[in-house]
Amino acid sequence: MSERVKHPSAAILLVGGRGTRLAPLTDRTPKPMLPVGGVPFTLHQVLQARAAGVNRLVMATSYLAEVFEPYFGDGSRFDMEISYAVEEVALGTGGGIKNAAAHLEIDGDAPVVIFNGDVLSAHDLKAQMDFHRTRDADVTLYLTQVEDARAYGVVPTNSEGWVEAFLEKMENPITNQINAGCYIFKRSVIDEIESNRVVSVERETFPTLLQEGKRVQGFVDNGYWRDIGTPAALIAASADLVTGKFASAATKPSNSKSGLGFIDESAKVAENARIDAGSVVLAGAQVGQNCTILSSIVGVGAKIDDGVKIESAFVAPESRITLDNCRGEVLGF
Ligand code: GTP
Repeated sequence: MSERVKHPSAAILLVGGRGTRLAPLTDRTPKPMLPVGGVPFTLHQVLQARAAGVNRLVMATSYLAEVFEPYFGDGSRFDMEISYAVEEVALGTGGGIKNAAAHLEIDGDAPVVIFNGDVLSAHDLKAQMDFHRTRDADVTLYLTQVEDARAYGVVPTNSEGWVEAFLEKMENPITNQINAGCYIFKRSVIDEIESNRVVSVERETFPTLLQEGKRVQGFVDNGYWRDIGTPAALIAASADLVTGKFASAATKPSNSKSGLGFIDESAKVAENARIDAGSVVLAGAQVGQNCTILSSIVGVGAKIDDGVKIESAFVAPESRITLDNCRGEVLGF
């Protein structure tokens, strides 16, 4: 654990969830470390946070906590300081924030940025921070507007942008504005969260703040946004990175001769196979003759036999795809 020092721009990255919706991919790899755009997903978030001025980051870990530090180390290679807070038993999003904040020594009203560890977004964090400061908010939530909000909790705001409610998923949402997974908290608000107990910020902390009349506001940004928590979304995000629909300094550049795709140098791809539409073929994987791989992730060491066509799929590491087990059909979600 690193020393406790003062930092102008501190953040907590929540990476401790079980990632059940992505099982079995998450059975051995936590969701934030799954390959997206050819690199562990969290790397995109770390570089983006740094570019927005964050220089001190605590990763709030729990499930498979031990895999983060060997990859990100002390943060010096990203010109930032990274430390790791471990919840022996997962404490939920609020409990995770509280536990991680103990690693940050900052003044009562100083802002702390909280990132969900499963969001790829182009939102303007600096503008969100400015908005937080100028309106002296207790909490500023990044909100985004989606076409169909039925799968999400929605967050209505009044004409001045102050949050009116946090509403659970519903069949006829009253607004299409959803919580997009990046919050700025005053440190004093984190101090109020109970220690060593499972707390959900979405279901407990935010509604309680509203009841107490705290200044909770929305920062709406309708730029690129994806929550990578489901297989289809994770695969689509990876393709968006490789095709350049979403730019990230961490993405592996396209090097496929047959389209937009990234092929690891240790992978073996037949000359006439097509790797396109943002696909990634990871280390040690093999792709046979006449294969077509579109918008997919071919996991480490996977083997794809001749003639297989795959679209929008995640081929599990070390698995084997034959014409038989994909029944000659295009595999995908
Ligand atoms: P599902 O099980 O598929 O819902 O995924 P999840 O476990 O990641 O839950 P969810 O998508 O709601 O989590 C949102 C973010 O909070 C993710 O970045 C999670 O890693 C993180 N998170 C969820 N629960 C915890 C927790 O108990 N502790 C910590 N530190 N982070 C958490």
